[in-house]
This record gives sequence, C-alpha cells and structure tokens, in this order.
Amino acid sequence: MTTKRTGRTAAKSVPGLRPHVLVLHGPNLNLLGSREPKHYGLATLDDINRALTARGDDAGAQVETFQHNHEGALIDRIHQAARDHVDFIVINPAGYTHTSVALRDALAGTAIPFVEVHLSNIYSRETFRHHSYFSDLAVGVISGLGAQGYELALEYALRHLQDRTPHGSQKTEKAH
Ligand code: DQA
Repeated sequence: MTTKRTGRTAAKSVPGLRPHVLVLHGPNLNLLGSREPKHYGLATLDDINRALTARGDDAGAQVETFQHNHEGALIDRIHQAARDHVDFIVINPAGYTHTSVALRDALAGTAIPFVEVHLSNIYSRETFRHHSYFSDLAVGVISGLGAQGYELALEYALRHLQDRTPHGSQKTEKAH
C-alpha cells in the first residue's frame, strides 16, 4: 500500500485480521493527572489507555498502548510495530515532538500511517513548541483537545481501516 500523503510504501498489514492500532505516548506522559493540569488536564494515562482499549474492543480492533520516557525505547517499539503488522499508529511524541529526528525517522522508515496528538494546543504555547518533526509526515494532527484528541484520532484510524479492509464488511455479514 502507498500512503496518500507521502507516497511512501507502507508496511503491509495482514488481510483478514482485525485492525491493529498502536497508541504511543512519549516522555513525561506517565505523569498525566498530576503534571501541569492547566495544560494537560486531570485524566491519568491509565484513564486514557483504558478508554482507548475499550473502544478498540467495541469496534473489534486490537488497540495496544505504550509509554516510555526514552527515545530509543519508543523507536524500538515502532520497529516492533512494523514486524507485528500494526496498521495505524496514534502518537503523542510529547517533548520529542520538538527535538527528535530519530523518532521521526523510525515512523518514516516503517511507513505506518499515523496521527499526531497533543493534549495542549502547542501553537498557543512557547514558540519552541510550534515546530514538530512529525506533522508533515502525519496523516493528521490533533492539538489542544485534551484527552479527547486521542479518542478522535482512534475513531479516525478505525473508520479508515474499516473502509480499507474487508474487516468491516465481514462484521456486517455476521450481523445479518
Ligand atoms: C505535549 C506538548 C509538548 O510540547 C510537551 O513537551 C508534552 C506534551 C501535549 O500533549 O500537549 O510533553 O505533546
């Protein structure tokens, strides 16, 4: 498959299997709930992850979540995602948004389509947050909608994957 925006060749998903989405959280997002609530809200990372995996279960999709404070661990997880035939990534690169060529290269190298999410509106904050190493590669960017941004990104991924694979039609057939 070739991604719409970039023309890059995407890692192949396994046809017939349920949609597989990976949600990646970058550094310091393990502190959500207590970390600068005026920017990031009061939901904990567990709250967010639970809601996303539950939504995945409802939709018949596999939703995995992963948070790490180290760049290399996030890169390794993206490489693993390609080996696991992950169809779509939702990523909040957190502080690495503004610094990490290496994390960008991991997403470019695996060509798994992704949506970039930020809890806060990075464009209404300090100027060093206005630049992202990810946005031009992303299918889309959601910034400033709090935890709901992850949910909207996941909805997009689910809809996009059901339209693309025979999975959605299989579900419809079973329902009749
Ligand atoms: C963030 C915004 C980044 O600038 C910041 O470094 C974060 C979180 C957000 O979700 O709003 O850690 O990605």
